[in-house]
Amino acid sequence: MNYSKKWKLKGPKIVVEPPGPKSKKILARKEKCVTDGIRIGLPTALDVAEGPFMRDVDGNVFLDFTAGIGVHNCGHRPEAMVKACKDQLDKFIHICVMVSPYESYIKLAEEMAKICPGKLEKSIFLNSGSEAIENALKIARSYTKKKWIVSYRTSFHGRTFMDISLTGKEKPYRDGFHPLVPYVQHVDFAYCYRCPLGLSHPSCNLACADTIRTVIETAPLAGDVCAFVIEPVEGEGGFINPPPGYWEKIRKICDDNDIVFIDDEVQTGFGRTGKMFAIENWKVEPDIIVSGKGLSLGMPLGGVTGKAKIMATPPPASLGGTFGGNPVCCAGALESIKMTKKVLSNTKMINKVETKRLNEWKAKYEVVGDVRGLGAMMGMELVKTKAGKEPATELARAVQLACFKKGLYILTAGAYGNVVRLHPPLNIDQKLLVKGLDILESALAEESKKAGLI
Ligand SMILES: Cc1ncc(COP(=O)(O)O)c(C=O)c1O
Repeated sequence: MNYSKKWKLKGPKIVVEPPGPKSKKILARKEKCVTDGIRIGLPTALDVAEGPFMRDVDGNVFLDFTAGIGVHNCGHRPEAMVKACKDQLDKFIHICVMVSPYESYIKLAEEMAKICPGKLEKSIFLNSGSEAIENALKIARSYTKKKWIVSYRTSFHGRTFMDISLTGKEKPYRDGFHPLVPYVQHVDFAYCYRCPLGLSHPSCNLACADTIRTVIETAPLAGDVCAFVIEPVEGEGGFINPPPGYWEKIRKICDDNDIVFIDDEVQTGFGRTGKMFAIENWKVEPDIIVSGKGLSLGMPLGGVTGKAKIMATPPPASLGGTFGGNPVCCAGALESIKMTKKVLSNTKMINKVETKRLNEWKAKYEVVGDVRGLGAMMGMELVKTKAGKEPATELARAVQLACFKKGLYILTAGAYGNVVRLHPPLNIDQKLLVKGLDILESALAEESKKAGLI
């Protein structure tokens, strides 16, 4: 498949070392007027983005393997989606669904019912993944009338108070913001590379899931757990995909204890793992799916889609918001669903190329400790030595910055910030994918050498 013939931007191409002079001026202005709570990952000011490329104000063209943190699954500004949004702008921009419903909101809810696994029939749309998580939990509380919520220590579920209460990583997400929402119990994820129980898969028989059952079925949680919130593949946690059979085991714990299984697909959803929703890689039907990011390819939208009996419990007027499910965002999302279905099959090529290449690096470089992921959601964990597995956090950041200087945007993640994660657009062609991986390998080799880790 050749998706690239229409792109006007060509790259990657560095014309001046980033940040160039125009970017520097804008970044200096930012220092004076934007809160320090916003941390800049890659210091440059963007001008135009198209397909897999972004051009900064100095004329540098970057290849984007961040997808705006897992959003642009079909590349930047796909034509059909921009047109759908523009058409809606020409009709009406906002009214609020609580004032007057409009068809695109309802059509999107109908589409979500069709594409979600299992029998998830009703939806609500919000402004972001964070807000969608909030709403999913309000709905689960309303349905179960129970208190406790279980989530993973290495998870990430957003930035509101509820979301940071679920998220386990203290710095930078929770530190300084306490007290958080009570009745949240953290448990350990199936992080096989650093097994919390010191076991190995498959001989462990998924003992980590049995540990979770014990926590849930023992005081003070026993009989009082409302929801278990999971990411089928942890995103910010470092692209950690649990082994086969794991989610089936967690689902069974939820069934045995009348717990709402909330599947946070904000980062994994919309094709990233090769299925529309990552949970479809296991034989599990969630009770609620939370979506965001790729749902609307850059228009701000979050969704909660769940079983009808659960979604029916919050009383009228108890959920909503002024902008949630904005008509322009719904128009974009309807187009996004069509486009995502078309590019899903390309994830096989991405997975094949990345798996081969990353595993070659694992064999060749001492610093590549683990290679993992599903579909087009692949990452590698950098360590100081393979035997000691000491997280190479500074190296991961150095590799990210070196890639940036060479014209490639990548992200890091993980409990220790030492995972390099790859979010290329799902419709990238093989040549460009390889070009990006070549840049990444040269950055990895150079930076490991500089750090004396080769
Ligand atoms: C798994 C997951 N849930 C929720 C969120 C929060 O979404 P948003 O940033 O749109 O509020 C994110 C964002 O990265 C995420 O990765």
